Amino acid sequence: MLKSVLIIGGSSQIAQAIAAQCHQQGAQVSIISRQPAPQCSPYLWQHDALQSEDSCQHSVEQALQQQPDTVFICNGVLHDSSGMPEKTIRQLSSEQLLQRMHSNVVIPAQYLRALFRYLSRRAEVRVLVLSAKVGSISDNRLGGWYSYRMSKAALNMLVKNFSLEVSRLNPSACIVTVHPGTTDTPLSEPFQSNLAPGQLQTAAQTAQRLLQVRDGLRPEVSGALLHWDGSVLPF
Ligand SMILES: NC(=O)c1ccc[n+]([C@@H]2O[C@H](COP(=O)([O-])OP(=O)(O)OC[C@H]3O[C@@H](n4cnc5c(N)ncnc54)[C@H](OP(=O)(O)O)[C@@H]3O)[C@@H](O)[C@H]2O)c1
Repeated sequence: MLKSVLIIGGSSQIAQAIAAQCHQQGAQVSIISRQPAPQCSPYLWQHDALQSEDSCQHSVEQALQQQPDTVFICNGVLHDSSGMPEKTIRQLSSEQLLQRMHSNVVIPAQYLRALFRYLSRRAEVRVLVLSAKVGSISDNRLGGWYSYRMSKAALNMLVKNFSLEVSRLNPSACIVTVHPGTTDTPLSEPFQSNLAPGQLQTAAQTAQRLLQVRDGLRPEVSGALLHWDGSVLPF
């Protein structure tokens, strides 16, 4: 059973719903976020403006004082003021591609590196990195969304590689990427009009599903990309 959770990218709406459910169940909750702590937060909140690798290491060290048995990494950007996802390669800009690679791959990689020593020793630790089904290369039948798809595919490889390295030192660990399903957050908001009925989940529903996935994790699936129902998705 989950007793202490660290949630990185903790201002995400899915992250906040995970935090609320864990807190409600009596677990300790640590958050790392680019956003400053809200007033009267019930969580141990580390503000990390992501200005340097040292700041990332420092905030992880603070959060590890609560000895988390579970880590969620929620960072992910699909669109922002730099642009919407590309419909065609003609819309691809190197600047936007680099920004997506930075927020969706470089930032999670920095946190995984900072966590490496801890994860290599903590028995039965569970790590869930939020990815996306659109990052599956073999599942891609629609095209488009170049920068986001490429960055999530790279994230899946990062986590696969990392899981192999950790498993040599800590065979009881399980580290996966997870597709949370289409969830009503600012990230999906511009793309919700064409969804099939029932496809859009609330952040609370998604958090519940992800916590169920967490409870079912076993070292044998470490490195996999999982669907929100816990099944393995193809890379
Ligand atoms: N919503 C969906 O339908 C859906 C579908 C598939 C996958 N996902 C994935 O689920 C995760 C959470 O998404 P959400 O829907 O909850 O999104 P959201 O509410 O828009 O949250 C955005 C997340 O990205 C981080 N972030 C924002 N700008 C960043 C930057 N420049 N550099 C690094 N991190 C940055 C935020 O962390 P801070 O707390 O540090 O600001 C926060 O964790 C993402 O990885 C997303 O790709 C979502």
